[in-house]
Amino acid sequence: MAYETVLVETRGKVGIVTLNRPKALNALSAELVRELGQALDAFEADSAIGAIVLTGSEKAFAAGADIKEMATKGYMDVYLADFITSGWERVTTCRKPIVAAVAGYALGGGCEVAMMCDFILAADTAKFGQPEITIGTIPGAGGTQRLTRAVGKAKAMEMVLTGRMMDAAEAERSGLVSRVVPAADLLAEAVKAAEKMAGLSLPVVMLAKEAVNRAFETTLAEGVRFERRLFHSTFATEDQKEGMAAFVEKRPPAFRNR
Ligand code: CAA
Repeated sequence: MAYETVLVETRGKVGIVTLNRPKALNALSAELVRELGQALDAFEADSAIGAIVLTGSEKAFAAGADIKEMATKGYMDVYLADFITSGWERVTTCRKPIVAAVAGYALGGGCEVAMMCDFILAADTAKFGQPEITIGTIPGAGGTQRLTRAVGKAKAMEMVLTGRMMDAAEAERSGLVSRVVPAADLLAEAVKAAEKMAGLSLPVVMLAKEAVNRAFETTLAEGVRFERRLFHSTFATEDQKEGMAAFVEKRPPAFRNR
């Protein structure tokens, strides 16, 4: 499929989507969001793909929703189109694991999309922020919720109320990103993590992802019960038999996604 605003490639079992509107610092236009969704749909449907990496350019993962596109919209435009929810949340419904590889700016909707991924690997050049307040609006794609859960109230409030950006080191200290790597190694490190996941049992990886995500939706007791049910269900898979047999027999497992 030919895209205008994203680049798509595969490396082994890893699908890579690169946001590609360099002149606009990958601002998330309606077209880009639609094409991102289509690219994710294609990787989800492709049984040869086990994990996805979402990345941008050296200068910007994405500098937010496209301000030029939304500047003149009225209330009814955004309300009737369910602006931001529709389309954007495709990242959150991805069942395969998805890693955000962030270099440069991840601002506004860019930070929000990165936070929709399963985890964020940051280049040492990464800068995260929710600067919407400085242009007369507030985050609209989950920023006030996901950032607060990731870094706590104090930092989230300061970032959302003042627009202050966080650099990569602070983002790692605060729990927003899983790791910081040199910018030159970012994509290779993200692909390595994705390859690791893609070499495991896809259904079991999907269960694990579902269980962690449930932690953000429910009480501890309910979450632990949910986890136990999923844990039990892994014993119905061939891959659990294979994984444990391989350990006992001191050989690498050959998972079959069954
Ligand atoms: N939307 C549209 N265009 C954008 C953009 C955005 N979010 N961010 C950058 N651009 C464009 C600029 O307009 C500029 O284009 P022109 O050359 O045609 O003028 C080009 O990208 C390069 O940008 P700058 O010249 O500004 O680059 P810089 O290096 O001087 O500054 C920056 C970089 C600090 C990221 C600055 O571009 C900036 O502040 N961008 C806006 C950040 C922002 O406010 N994001 C939040 C958007 S609202 C949102 O996302 C709502 C939501 O919750 C979903």
